[in-house]
Amino acid sequence: LFTAVEMAPRDPILGLNDQFNADTNPNKVNLGVGVYFDDNGKLPLLKCVQAAEKAMMDKPTARGYLPIDGIASYDSAVKTLVFGADSEVVTSGRVATVQAVGGTGGLKIGADFLKKLNPDAKVLISDPSWENHKAIFTNAGFEVGTYKYYDAANRKVNFDGMLADLNAAAPGTIVVLHACCHNPTGYDITAEQWAKVIEAVKSRDLVAFLDMAYQGFGQGLKEDGAVIGKFVAAGLNIFVSTSFSKSFSLYGERVGALSVVASDKDEAARVLSQLKIVIRTNYSNPPTHGGAVVSAVLNDAALRAQWEEELGEMRVRIKAMRQKLVDGLKAAGVKEDMSFITTQIGMFSYSGLSKDQMMRLRSEFGVYGTDTGRMCVAALNSKNIEYVCKAIAAVV
Ligand code: LMR
Repeated sequence: LFTAVEMAPRDPILGLNDQFNADTNPNKVNLGVGVYFDDNGKLPLLKCVQAAEKAMMDKPTARGYLPIDGIASYDSAVKTLVFGADSEVVTSGRVATVQAVGGTGGLKIGADFLKKLNPDAKVLISDPSWENHKAIFTNAGFEVGTYKYYDAANRKVNFDGMLADLNAAAPGTIVVLHACCHNPTGYDITAEQWAKVIEAVKSRDLVAFLDMAYQGFGQGLKEDGAVIGKFVAAGLNIFVSTSFSKSFSLYGERVGALSVVASDKDEAARVLSQLKIVIRTNYSNPPTHGGAVVSAVLNDAALRAQWEEELGEMRVRIKAMRQKLVDGLKAAGVKEDMSFITTQIGMFSYSGLSKDQMMRLRSEFGVYGTDTGRMCVAALNSKNIEYVCKAIAAVV
């Protein structure tokens, strides 16, 4: 049965974890996967999460099946966070939100639903994009192309190219957009540029699928999520996948969501019924723990305030590490001006290093980033930064 089965390539991001774990270099540093570590190199267990879990343990409950679309209080908390409690789309009931198995799960539910809805549509993702975008939409049966995004020579967004590609897309094309903290480049577009993107989506009759996995890691929760409100204000039917993996440091709990903005309450109910079929035929219904924790935190004023504070601390530490990286690279002898690192935003820095340089970083120094030159700045700390800077200086 399996004689003709070929060995699949390792995952470009998660596959690096296996290599990292097997590496015996005592100085190794994992800047591959997008995970936040604190200044001691530890994965944080947020205090708000601990408090919610303690309350749950004090009153243990059995684990029945969840509804197919997840915990109702979780779904409504997601809606409030993503669209705002007073937003017309929420109060009128025209958003269909389902709990998903991480942000990836949200993308996959949306992709499967879109394939049924519009099987001939093409999908456009940014060039470059998170590697799994292409894989998810390809596996859902779509032809996936790209729109221009990164201008490597000038280390900025090629916005004219992006807009031209969107304006040349066929009506119905699904456009995957990074709501904030672009993965992998770390370059976001400005508010004025978003307005032009929204205009293009509207005039070309495109379908916007916003991936928001890093809300709160750019400028702040509100600021990072502002773009969603702009799409809504333009009267567009949009898809939004969200994730609490990073913002709650709950990576392994797979807590995410998909929200679809429909035209009215009745349409939203019909969309929801279809999303439930996608979920039921894939994994039946979501797991309980992560959703229950996030719901408990977001629906309690004190815990929610604590969460925002903890998220803010992560955001501020990442920004500080960006500056330390720029300074450290200079001190280590890198001649090139690396100050672009501080103009990037979110967890990642697209370093501009080649695949060969990234491989040397791994093999000679145990410093792991992706082949594309992406490094997770959120894994740098006051103890490993000098080593990383010296390693980079040695390969550039
Ligand atoms: C990343 O880009 O490193 C993260 O989103 C983790 C993942 O699933 O790839």
